[in-house]
Amino acid sequence: MISKLILVGVAVQLVCATACPPIVSRDDWGGYDPFHDQKFSGPVDIVIIQHTDTPQCTRDSTCKTMIRGIEDYHVDTLFYNSIGMNFLIGGNGKAYEGAGWDQIGTHTQGYNNRSIAISFIGNYEHDEPTDDQIKIAQELIKCGVENKYLSPYYRLVGHRQLIATVSPGRNLYRIIRRWKNFLPDLSSISN
Ligand SMILES: *[C@@H]1O[C@H](CO)[C@@H](O)[C@H](O)[C@H]1NC(C)=O
Repeated sequence: MISKLILVGVAVQLVCATACPPIVSRDDWGGYDPFHDQKFSGPVDIVIIQHTDTPQCTRDSTCKTMIRGIEDYHVDTLFYNSIGMNFLIGGNGKAYEGAGWDQIGTHTQGYNNRSIAISFIGNYEHDEPTDDQIKIAQELIKCGVENKYLSPYYRLVGHRQLIATVSPGRNLYRIIRRWKNFLPDLSSISN
């Protein structure tokens, strides 16, 4: 009995230490593993927020179908190593694994090997992100820092600050400008 209690105690501590939101794995949504291992060599110091420029999704099954479509396009048409973004966030408040924490993604030329891209499913020039979507993205970033995938000194930027795109859309960009570690002036990270 006592040893069972100790085990439960240890398990609870482990869960608290990682503090990560549930992440739907590539296996879960039917994605493929990257063709080649191209891993980050240490903690990453830039977080890029983007949007997928697709309709929004509010149901798990719809989100998964859309993500498989994005993967098909990235891998079959653009010949990326894997689905381009590191994570995707559905309007249902779920985080989906793309290239993930340790694989270098393909999303922002010149920055891929030093950044994690988190892409909100939808088009936020027109749509508004849901509260759950905002919350899960912030939890994911916190989880990245606590597990040392992200530097504690990471900088957060909008996709549009780095390349010619409206992504993540004006409605989402307005919101992320108030997030922790948002970087308005890029001179310190420019290539
Ligand atoms: C990223 O790639 C560039 C160009 O190949 C290289 O100069 C740079 O050192 C790389 N950065 C990291 C963090 O690996």
